Amino acid sequence: MPKKIILDVDPGHDDAIAILLAKGNPEIELAAITSVAGNQILSKTTYNTLRVATLVGATDIPIAAGAEFPLVRDQITDADSIAGSVHGESGLDGPVLPEPAMELDPRHAAQLIIDLVMAGEPGEYTLVPTGPLTNIALAMRLQPEIVTRVKEVVLMGGAYTQGNVTPAAEFNILADAEAAAAVFNADWQVTMVGLDLTHQAVATPEIRERIRAIDTDISRVVDEWLDFFGANYDSVWKMPYPPIHDACAVARVISADIVKAEKAFITVETAGKWTYGETVTDFLGAYGLPFNNLAATELDFDAFWDLIIDAIKTVSKS
Ligand code: BDR
Ligand code: CA
Repeated sequence: MPKKIILDVDPGHDDAIAILLAKGNPEIELAAITSVAGNQILSKTTYNTLRVATLVGATDIPIAAGAEFPLVRDQITDADSIAGSVHGESGLDGPVLPEPAMELDPRHAAQLIIDLVMAGEPGEYTLVPTGPLTNIALAMRLQPEIVTRVKEVVLMGGAYTQGNVTPAAEFNILADAEAAAAVFNADWQVTMVGLDLTHQAVATPEIRERIRAIDTDISRVVDEWLDFFGANYDSVWKMPYPPIHDACAVARVISADIVKAEKAFITVETAGKWTYGETVTDFLGAYGLPFNNLAATELDFDAFWDLIIDAIKTVSKS
């Protein structure tokens, strides 16, 4: 039985590859996609979500737009954010994409999440957020019962070593730290697929060559996304190859062997002057608190890229 997931995204080049992987992998049933402001403003991330869903053939599932702004803090805007400089003016700069083939679902993203989870069996849906956690926090607060009905939350965000916007904080968590704190502290299992893991998922020259060899319209789009994203990763972080963060969260749902994780107490710092937005991760029990969540630690690089390559081939055929 494929695992049913709801993807909550802010595309974003790596979000786009996460959508592609979710659609193109036989272990996953992509039930719905919701959009949130993050890498760009909501209208842009929503438009990008619709275009990417059209590109990969995810045209028969509900897609709903969600939160325009974080719960409490000011939005990280283009002027001071990494997102504009990493994902471009459109949020998904690079190749020309198809115009949306579907209408947006009229519901708010949080409502769509609630409707699906409450109509399903307990444990039927896994939430996979790969942007700021605003929609997930809103859904939890609107219908607290979803916390016991969701199988788990597997999110891209955070880090237990070092952030990428500040030394302490990763972008998705910093962008809405209060929402992230609510999600991490709730009584469901959160698997944090953070930078410690995603920085292992880099598109090396050998991987780029394998993608080019697929030689389809979609593989060429992915290749151009990696060109754009990769150049910015190099200039902003001096990382020679781009890490495909968000697809790692989908890969974790597909296989706990490909993305290994360890139990820990994890919470989000919302008061620190220097550490605001940090995902504080206690693997050793130093705080004496129950290990409420999981932190992803180790990637099977070859198996991860096999998943991506196979998914590109699958969506290219449909
Ligand atoms: C995260 O931030 C965004 O720029 C990416 O899409 C990813 O979700 C990495 O910090
Ligand atoms: Ca993202």
